[in-house]
Amino acid sequence: MTIAPKPVVLTGDRTTGPLHLGHYVGSLRARVALQEEAEQYILLADAQAFTDNVGKHHKVTSNVIEVALDYLATGIDPLKSTIFIQSQVPELAELTALFMNFVTVSRLERNPTIKEEIRLRGLERDIPVGFLTYPVSQAADIAAFRATIVPVGEDQLPMIEQTNELVRRFNDSVGAQVLLECAAQVSAVGRLPGVDGKAKMSKSLGNAIELGASSDEIRAAVRRMYTDEHHLRVTDPGRIEGNIVFAFLDAFEPNASLVNELKARYRRGGLGDTEIKRLLEGRLQALIAPIRAERQRLAADRGAVMSILKRGTEKARQKAAATLGDVKRALGLAYFD
Ligand code: TRP
Repeated sequence: MTIAPKPVVLTGDRTTGPLHLGHYVGSLRARVALQEEAEQYILLADAQAFTDNVGKHHKVTSNVIEVALDYLATGIDPLKSTIFIQSQVPELAELTALFMNFVTVSRLERNPTIKEEIRLRGLERDIPVGFLTYPVSQAADIAAFRATIVPVGEDQLPMIEQTNELVRRFNDSVGAQVLLECAAQVSAVGRLPGVDGKAKMSKSLGNAIELGASSDEIRAAVRRMYTDEHHLRVTDPGRIEGNIVFAFLDAFEPNASLVNELKARYRRGGLGDTEIKRLLEGRLQALIAPIRAERQRLAADRGAVMSILKRGTEKARQKAAATLGDVKRALGLAYFD
């Protein structure tokens, strides 16, 4: 009997701050499940975070351990998943440099994620070269591990498309299937809104609930959540659309029929905001309490966390080096072999 090889998963996060519930719903939860059935690599994308944090290098490097703590505390098991630091795998930088030749400036400028980020930051033409080309480095991350599954948020879909274009272009030009195409795996729940009702939960927008949030912070965040401004009395009919509490219940209350029942009651009138907020707060307190406790326990021994990252990085380097070797041989760049 032959055993089918496990699919390879690669994913990661920029290390610009501790992770929050948006990350949990968007991809962390999926990663905890995927590590049971796949060979999973998770990268701490410090090098990518540098591309738009010039002058704030300390912020990027000091958050490497914070994000690692979030991973470990939510159940990513270093015996099942390989967690590593992107900047410490120079093979990725070398692969990126080679990949630069397989993509045009105009194609990068058309990448919708990059376009949106340039607009949000008001960069216009003052774009750091590294920032414009970070999709190439992300393609190198994915290709280096021969990943076929990439669990990411919806905003990352253009990155996956760009990766596959690059992979095809590379394979076509060397006339061999050296690299593999990949597929994004997007969470069924979709994007979690911020507690203020803005479309996206984000630390920089100040509308996030962090995975290490205290019980008081969770209570205050739920209290702040936007519901329906016209739902003044319990007996008034209320709206579900745009109601943040229901968006969170959809994401965190496992009993979907209970949520549907509550939605029907809320629409009809007769269900108060206090009651749905109480239910949600209970769910969030129960979800975050063990994560917070585990995070604190792990944070007390930073040396142990760093050695997990060191071991993961060594393993990641071996895999990336093997792919880089194949790429260089395919290009004839193996003079001394
Ligand atoms: N772009 C991702 C983010 O903003 C981080 C990242 C870097 C990544 N390389 C990756 C994600 C490769 C998936 C695959 O968080």
